[in-house]
Amino acid sequence: MHPRIIAQTGITHGDNLILLAESPKTLPAGFFSDPEIRFIGDRHKQKVEMIPFNRLDHWVVVQFIPAEKDRNQRWEKCRTAGDKIQSFLNRHQATRVALFDVDSKNDESMALLEGMAMGCYQFLKYKTDKEDANTLKEIGIFSGTVTKKNVAELNAVLNGVDFTRNLVNEPNSYLTAAMFAKEIESSAVKAGIAVEVLSKKKLEALQMGGLLGVNKGSHEPPFFIILEYKPGKPKNPKPIVLVGKGIVYDTGGMDLKTGSHMENMKTDMAGGAAVAGAMLAVATAKLPVHIVGLIPATDNWPGPLAIVSGDILKMHNGMTVEVINTDAEGRLILADALSYAKRYDPLLTIDLATLTGSAVRAIGKRAIAGMQSDAGQAFEQLRASGFDVYERIVELPLWDDYGEELKSKIADLKNLGGPEAGAIIAGKFLQKFTSYPYIHLDIAGPSFFDKRDSYRGQGASGVGVRLLVKFIKGIIN
Ligand code: BES
Ligand code: MN
Ligand code: ZN
Repeated sequence: MHPRIIAQTGITHGDNLILLAESPKTLPAGFFSDPEIRFIGDRHKQKVEMIPFNRLDHWVVVQFIPAEKDRNQRWEKCRTAGDKIQSFLNRHQATRVALFDVDSKNDESMALLEGMAMGCYQFLKYKTDKEDANTLKEIGIFSGTVTKKNVAELNAVLNGVDFTRNLVNEPNSYLTAAMFAKEIESSAVKAGIAVEVLSKKKLEALQMGGLLGVNKGSHEPPFFIILEYKPGKPKNPKPIVLVGKGIVYDTGGMDLKTGSHMENMKTDMAGGAAVAGAMLAVATAKLPVHIVGLIPATDNWPGPLAIVSGDILKMHNGMTVEVINTDAEGRLILADALSYAKRYDPLLTIDLATLTGSAVRAIGKRAIAGMQSDAGQAFEQLRASGFDVYERIVELPLWDDYGEELKSKIADLKNLGGPEAGAIIAGKFLQKFTSYPYIHLDIAGPSFFDKRDSYRGQGASGVGVRLLVKFIKGIIN
């Protein structure tokens, strides 16, 4: 759990305190003793930006964020500074701290709070010894500009991010497709989201050949999770549909992954978890937007009944697909979901998926690979949201000739192209199942970090949640 953030109307004596300021000039007069002022001034001259010191019964942390032209860089500096501060406070076993927004800068304070809270995240469920558990439980914010509503929305987003990270960090020994559906359902219902979980019989009736095909080698049944958040007077006349890849474990299937390629494949449902986390945040914050979430869920396993290379699947939209490689399974389950999305007549559909190693090789872990068709303006808005929350999107093209490689001699499509441009060809495959403004986000890179990456942490980052919520908030303004 992240520390709870609460608005406060003053500074309580004895509280641990963070003062966020542009420079020593803007620090409040009369707050510091002369030696403290000299100490802060000296450090500042040495270009130190985080200056903690002890006042016997509490800590004071002065944090300078120098003026920086690019607001996205400035906000990101605040988040990473927040992470460093939480690390310092937890190391000193602090349980509470208050942030004093000295310059009344809403965005900067919010970013610092976000970085602090996200940085505190830990996945300790399976640790017997919880000795290393963070102690920080509450962060107060004292600010002339941060409103109660801002704080409530931030807590909602942080809850959504936490939820997503927990699911992504869960191993397959706990998180079967059934458990994945159960976890999402119970949290979603509490947040006022309508949930329908389709089981295998229903998937057969719907002829979801992609999802059923991938599931054939499994000892666990597949599920199709449908979430719908429809507030009283939504600002969008037609729903936004979010689709998330929900492979709870990707062994590769009969084309079994080798070497270390299977190591983090418990995270192959990060797209689905992000869709659920974002919807939880939107519903908890009661944003007036109509959103539908679709999450096809199964593992990808080899076995006597598993699909093999050469098999042909009949998909939900009636198209036939020749399976070339059973490890290109994400696109098979997503294709059914994208085709199912048509019944909502969506304003826009966005999918999130840990889809290809190719995307990671192309742009690394610092960005999301984005593709779009017929959604140029929405894509620009999403890209801008990406810079704002620092879940940045790099656009790859979906030019038609990239689709050539998906031609099959015996079926309508095959599920694999050549060795090059794998992320784009996967996007082209998905696009064939859409008939509405469409954005595809390949999050294989930034969804999980082996080594700690500032406030994104070690393990699951929760990527996609803040991005989607920011984008959705943009639509209602
Ligand atoms: N889930 C993987 C993609 C992935 C790779 C996610 C690394 C996270 C980190 C996907 O299902 C997959 O196996 N992709 C293959 C496709 C290949 C068989 C065409 C890949 O990218 O290697
Ligand atoms: Mn795979
Ligand atoms: Zn996969």
